[in-house]
Amino acid sequence: MDEMERIEAAKTSKEDRIENSLRPQSLDDFIGQDKLKNNLKVFIEAAKNRREALDHCLFYAPPGLGKTTLSHIIAKEMGGNLRMTSGPVLERVGDLAAILTNLSEGDIFFIDEIHRMNHLVEESLYPVMEDFELDIIIGQGPSAKTIKLPVERFTLIGATTRAGLLSSPLRDRFGIIEHLDFYGIKALTHIVKRSASIMNIAIDDEASEEIARRSRGTPRIVNRLLKRVRDFAELEGGKITLDIAKAALKALEVDNAGLDKMDRLILTVMIEKFGGGPVGIDTIAVAVLEESDTITDVYEPYIIQSGFIARTSRGRVVTEAGYKHLGVETPKNFQKELL
Ligand SMILES: Nc1ncnc2c1ncn2[C@@H]1O[C@H](COP(=O)(O)OP(=O)(O)OP(=O)(O)O)[C@@H](O)[C@H]1O
Ligand SMILES: [Mg+2]
Repeated sequence: MDEMERIEAAKTSKEDRIENSLRPQSLDDFIGQDKLKNNLKVFIEAAKNRREALDHCLFYAPPGLGKTTLSHIIAKEMGGNLRMTSGPVLERVGDLAAILTNLSEGDIFFIDEIHRMNHLVEESLYPVMEDFELDIIIGQGPSAKTIKLPVERFTLIGATTRAGLLSSPLRDRFGIIEHLDFYGIKALTHIVKRSASIMNIAIDDEASEEIARRSRGTPRIVNRLLKRVRDFAELEGGKITLDIAKAALKALEVDNAGLDKMDRLILTVMIEKFGGGPVGIDTIAVAVLEESDTITDVYEPYIIQSGFIARTSRGRVVTEAGYKHLGVETPKNFQKELL
């Protein structure tokens, strides 16, 4: 793998190719997130009319909601090339320089996990974002010199799971900051049907809605569950019916609220080991043998959105709905005032 490939982290596995075939190619194809979509349409049209590059964009959202997809779509709508990398891969300012000096006017430069950039790389990005100039220091000590390298007018798109992890100087340099919410059942059902038709899967309306309801508000999970449910359906004649979908989801241990094994383990541990909370995220992480960042980014947002856990100043607390969901009686001393 040459240096440029390392920095641009080429992805070519089979799962990625299927994921790419399901990826919406235009804003009109992109289902849901109407407010965000309408805003982007205006910003894109206006930039095009002025014949300027689109302002730098920051998208923050839990995994699988469409940040990478949006960057592909923007590149396409703006007619620029898309160069992709991710925060942790940009180890040195030189890595950044290698990409920046290869950009043409109007290109889109996508940095995934932008909150995980090394701080020297991050700081060298500031003048690039503002003035399209990269400062490079040549030599060391008293004889060191700074040269300014001009960069073509491009659009930086940053993606992160939590905007709060970004330093404010970096965040402030984005002209467009948008949050993606979990998708509603209607949009998710639409996504199930769209993906099923691309993959040539026959599916009933009720079954589409069932998969949508159990996909944690997340298009990537819709696609994953759809593929796995199809495996079950193939043994039963092919078409995904409501009964087959329910049986398959049960076998996959996805419950009727869309929680998976890990989500339920988190709730169970909080109840059984920590009296329902308040308990800190690091303590939960140790108890379920998972990284606390993964719990905060991947699992917790949906459990909180479902109303089973609440975040308080003293830690996480299982709510009455959380107890009910697990079929555990709410303790007598349950402190409503904590919530
Ligand atoms: N609005 C949408 N309509 C239809 N499909 C979508 C939509 N958003 C995302 N998808 C599907 O979900 C998959 C995951 O989306 P994407 O890779 O853009 O998520 P992401 O936010 O970049 O996730 P991560 O944080 O893990 O990088 C895509 O392959 C795409 O097929
Ligand atoms: Mg992504």
